[in-house]
Amino acid sequence: MLGIKYFPQKLNIEGKRLIVRVDLNVPLKDKKIQDPTRILQVLPFLQDLIKRKSKIILISHLGRPKGIRNSDLSLLPIYRYLKEKLNTNMYFYTGEIKNEVKTKCSYLKEGEILLIENIRFFKEEAENNENFAKKLGELGDIYINDAFSCSHRKHSSIYSITKFVKEIYAGPLLKKEITAINSIIKNKKDPVTCIIGGSKVSTKIGVISNLIKIVSNIVIVGAMANNFLAYKKYEIGRSLREENTEDMIKKILEKAEKNKCKIVIPEDCMVSKSFEGDAILRDIKSIEKDDIILDIGSKTIKIIEEIIDNSNTIMWNGPAGYFESKNFALGTNAIAQKVSENTKNRSLTSVLGGGDTVSAINKNGLDLSFTHLSTAGGAFLEYLEGKDLPGLSVLK
Ligand code: 3PG
Ligand code: MG
Repeated sequence: MLGIKYFPQKLNIEGKRLIVRVDLNVPLKDKKIQDPTRILQVLPFLQDLIKRKSKIILISHLGRPKGIRNSDLSLLPIYRYLKEKLNTNMYFYTGEIKNEVKTKCSYLKEGEILLIENIRFFKEEAENNENFAKKLGELGDIYINDAFSCSHRKHSSIYSITKFVKEIYAGPLLKKEITAINSIIKNKKDPVTCIIGGSKVSTKIGVISNLIKIVSNIVIVGAMANNFLAYKKYEIGRSLREENTEDMIKKILEKAEKNKCKIVIPEDCMVSKSFEGDAILRDIKSIEKDDIILDIGSKTIKIIEEIIDNSNTIMWNGPAGYFESKNFALGTNAIAQKVSENTKNRSLTSVLGGGDTVSAINKNGLDLSFTHLSTAGGAFLEYLEGKDLPGLSVLK
């Protein structure tokens, strides 16, 4: 995206209060960090800001608490992790966004950091409330958005806040993401295949619908595929499914046919009676009433591998199954290996995005290469579609 104002490397920020919006939305289990990639990626910039003697006010969200405080989604474990990695005084602020936090920010010393508790604990964040954004904006002298992965959200700390701080910039991580994705879009070679996993159709409907016009194949995997299978009247047992998706799927399939875009859905699956159970291979026509679909099957893997071999560009977002259990990580790992192999051997252009996808890739311990690995999921897909992301439009 042209015209974005990037944070100047030589700017004198000594003693200045910097509001830095980052994405510390990492996967947690029992309040333990499962994959620190996103945190590790923001560390170099924070270290640089500390060295340059600025005062840092960090803002991030975690999960989707919908304006309600929820201790499972507290940033406390992330605060502790950051504190251990950064050699400076760091504070965690859990109160309201009122005068108290303003005072605390004004007391920050050079090189110190104050992390605000999960910004989505405040309902005003997702409402893009201007009053709230103003209060956030008043905490600093300079605002930096270094969360490309959140820039598709028209939220207070991403969007409206920029009206209330004089100096606003995009951070280095955001710049790196945009530069990489731009170069891929520019050099993208046909046939293009998009592999989409994850669980919710409704959150990706717009993206899928727009991608149909620009790609040759859309491969639907993960829990998202269950909705397509149910639409085609297959038994999906107790598998995760989203209500009222029939109309959306009908439209997707009609549009795909019109645009000659092939939609590929699983032909077999790995199922189990529970998330912890063993994996059983079943043809899509023989799923039982108490089965849960947790991965794609071997026949589907072969079909997808062949599509990858015949593509020149791959865009992939969302794992193929419940990769958190190694019993159901085969599909995701097979796709990852095939994409990586083609990237290494015949310079397939591959771009992967999404917190879960990245964490699945990191977890399998394989030595893989891709053209670009983006920490962004939804933002990455919307950017690929050519959309003007609200969080980026305000940085121009
Ligand atoms: C993500 O993980 O996709 C980003 O952190 C944005 O989160 P969101 O999809 O809940 O807005
Ligand atoms: Mg998302």
